[in-house]
Amino acid sequence: MSSITTLQSYFGFTRIPFGRDIPPQALAQHPGHREAVARIEWCIDQRRMGVITGEVGAGKTVAARAALARLEPSRHQIIYIPDPTIGIRGIHSAIVTALGATPSFFSGALSAQSASLLAGELDERSRLPVIVIDEAHLLGNEELEALRMLTNVSMDTESHFALILLGQPTLRRRLKLAVLAALDQRIGTRFTIGGMALEDTNDYIKGHISFAGRTDTLFSEDAITAIHQASRGYPRTINNLALSALMASYSATKNIVDQSAAQSAITESSE
Ligand SMILES: Nc1ncnc2c1ncn2[C@@H]1O[C@H](COP(=O)(O)OP(=O)(O)OP(=O)(O)O)[C@@H](O)[C@H]1O
Ligand SMILES: [Mg+2]
Repeated sequence: MSSITTLQSYFGFTRIPFGRDIPPQALAQHPGHREAVARIEWCIDQRRMGVITGEVGAGKTVAARAALARLEPSRHQIIYIPDPTIGIRGIHSAIVTALGATPSFFSGALSAQSASLLAGELDERSRLPVIVIDEAHLLGNEELEALRMLTNVSMDTESHFALILLGQPTLRRRLKLAVLAALDQRIGTRFTIGGMALEDTNDYIKGHISFAGRTDTLFSEDAITAIHQASRGYPRTINNLALSALMASYSATKNIVDQSAAQSAITESSE
């Protein structure tokens, strides 16, 4: 048996806690998450451009997924680009393909093609394109400029799509560069998901545990405090620490995760 299956049966979980595959209705509703979701929804509603930043593992992708899951599928065309290192050609191709056409072979024609398909989707098929570019801090200045050009093409003042950029905090700083001023001015909302407060970390851990089938106390209060401090309230780090603290409790044949189990997880993670 793998150690993870052992953990599951030892603690009587119905599924492994602290995983990635949490359905939207089971997500922790901490303030940073709720605000990010609300901002993304606003962008979509207003057909604007929005920038959501946060440290690694802060919950950016999760927030975007939550917002997208609430959209009426028949009235939106979601274009989610997980990795922008495909370059601007790759991004244009993804847009064209998602909108049901075959990407043009020629670069100049391709950008015109994606722009006109984007502009036409709403009028012709009554579906609002929602482009989400994840890891957008990896976009180069030229690629960011090309995205701005997309927002520029239609002759009327009305925008025909929403564009959400998700990325690490460097993205926010980069947008302040003089060469990107034209793009920066088009951003309708920007928000940074910070670390959670202690009581939110507490709810977060309890939420994941109860999603895994245990509603009784499994983590002591001081274990939660220790994990909170070491993770600065960032979800992915909490997941990692909480899982390895469960492992430490199991190794010590304890029924709960106490401070010493949390501490050994923290020590292990910094080795
Ligand atoms: N609101 C939430 N409720 C429950 N779990 C969450 C929540 N937000 C984040 N998580 C957990 O934290 C993990 C990391 O979140 P996510 O992948 O969204 O981070 P990210 O900010 O996109 O990180 P990266 O910069 O590495 O892409 C998720 O896999 C999930 O397990
Ligand atoms: Mg992410």
